[in-house]
Amino acid sequence: MNGDEPSHETEVSSDDHSSASGETWREFDDSPPVRADGGAASDGDETASDETTLDPWGSATVSDYRKLFEEFGIEEFDEVLPEVPDPHYLMRRGVIFGHRDYRKVADAMRNDDPFAVLSGFMPTGDPHIGHKLVFDEIIWHQERGADAYALIADLEANSARGMTWDEIDGHARDYLLSLLALGFDPEEGTLYRQSDDRKVQDLAFELGAHANFSELENIYGFSGETNVSHMQSVVTQMADILYPQLEEPKPTVIPVGPDQDPHVRLARDLAARTQFFGVTKAYASFEADAEERELLAAAYAALSEDADEGETVRCEDAADWLTEEVAADSARTSAVRKLREAGKEPLRPRVRFLDRNATDDAFSALIGAVEGEKRVFDEHIDSFDLAREEAESLAREVELDHGGYGFVMPSSIYHRFMTGLTGGKMSSSVPASHISLLDDPEDGYDKVKAATTGGRETAERQRELGGRADECPVYELYAYLLAGDDDEFAKRVYDECVGGERLCGDCKEQAAQLMKEFLADHQEKREEVEHLLEAADIDLDSDRKRN
Ligand code: TRP
Ligand code: SF4
Repeated sequence: MNGDEPSHETEVSSDDHSSASGETWREFDDSPPVRADGGAASDGDETASDETTLDPWGSATVSDYRKLFEEFGIEEFDEVLPEVPDPHYLMRRGVIFGHRDYRKVADAMRNDDPFAVLSGFMPTGDPHIGHKLVFDEIIWHQERGADAYALIADLEANSARGMTWDEIDGHARDYLLSLLALGFDPEEGTLYRQSDDRKVQDLAFELGAHANFSELENIYGFSGETNVSHMQSVVTQMADILYPQLEEPKPTVIPVGPDQDPHVRLARDLAARTQFFGVTKAYASFEADAEERELLAAAYAALSEDADEGETVRCEDAADWLTEEVAADSARTSAVRKLREAGKEPLRPRVRFLDRNATDDAFSALIGAVEGEKRVFDEHIDSFDLAREEAESLAREVELDHGGYGFVMPSSIYHRFMTGLTGGKMSSSVPASHISLLDDPEDGYDKVKAATTGGRETAERQRELGGRADECPVYELYAYLLAGDDDEFAKRVYDECVGGERLCGDCKEQAAQLMKEFLADHQEKREEVEHLLEAADIDLDSDRKRN
């Protein structure tokens, strides 16, 4: 693996069919501030515990979102935001805070190229306002031309959470009705359940051939006690993530919470492992790892700069340069050794096609297809004229022509976890901490009225010091949901709060009212879309036995 796996504090007791916490979705930790406007959110809470675990079945705790960038390699969403046409309010407000490789999805969107969006839902309870974020993200991409997919992760719910098939059928219906009520177009998009889809099962089998037990042990904390079906649900999720590309490879975004990042990374790794050809950068005929490559690049840059016109940079010169200019460590030692062995061979940047799974025919075809100067070796082809991206699409074309999948590495976007209304985590085992999309509108109203706030002890103090909107679950409700697309409204709530003009009683009354209206309206829409669900090609009556 990449050597930067998440840590696993929570043991996954996968054979425990009575889900210990009884929680039905994910547990949420306190979220750091959400932006009121386009300004940068600061995550400067130094007092937060430094516990950051990404465990899809445990409690995903994110106490410090910066860690996800530094330790887990998730990229900051702000960096791609300018490339996203007409971004969603969750993007504008920093609720969607991170991504992997989303740039190519944004590019496809701008250029009207094919792209896809897919996410999955474990039907273990009622859909709630946390799921609404994901529903909205799917729908937004669909409205912008994505092939949209939503799947019911029933194999996972059964194997990892011990849900019965009857329970699963009921919850699945509820998730799908909310998705449709919020605007998913089932005629353009695809709905499926894992257990019922032959294509996803077949793909899961193929992908499973590229992963082994030790790897799942490392990533998910699986052990000898883990039930085999749980492992099957993992390869099924890998197949879900690549499913939109079965007919045609295309950029695909997976909107999820950061707890799902281990799955995204594994899916990206597996996609790479299925490829006929790996495309990398190289500097000489030998293989080098990423660290060594950096050293080679530095040596090449320095030496070619100094070289006279027409003069060749040779491996042995690079070995000398590294020995003099770079502090000794294991990467330098191995790079120098390789360079010495290569001796007088020229050091020249190139794009390399590594034969990973190619058939002989495909390998020969690629040789023919690489234009310009090239060198052919037993297991790889070096091209001196192709750019990396051209090389990748060429490799994909040859793979497709020779019966391969040609997967494009899947992308992801991550949204912040919502704070529970009672403070602390939003947890389905604490009904007052979250709002279900099925809650009676009056109950929704009451829950908001009873929520903790970022307010001060007294009205005077509040007027004097302003409220702490950044730590207020009620403000979060405005930013994540109640303000909808209306940035000005969200900003007004924020400014009035921190400016001391807004007092919590009125603020909660307004939020509670909006929540009540939202729930009433949503539930009415759910009824209106029932016929769409009946017409959709998804079976919500499993005929599976109980045992
Ligand atoms: N594991 C996800 C969850 O816990 C559900 C899921 C299954 C999923 N397959 C997926 C999510 C594919 C995103 C993409 O909720
Ligand atoms: Fe929260 Fe509103 Fe009170 Fe501000 S005024 S702390 S946003 S409830």
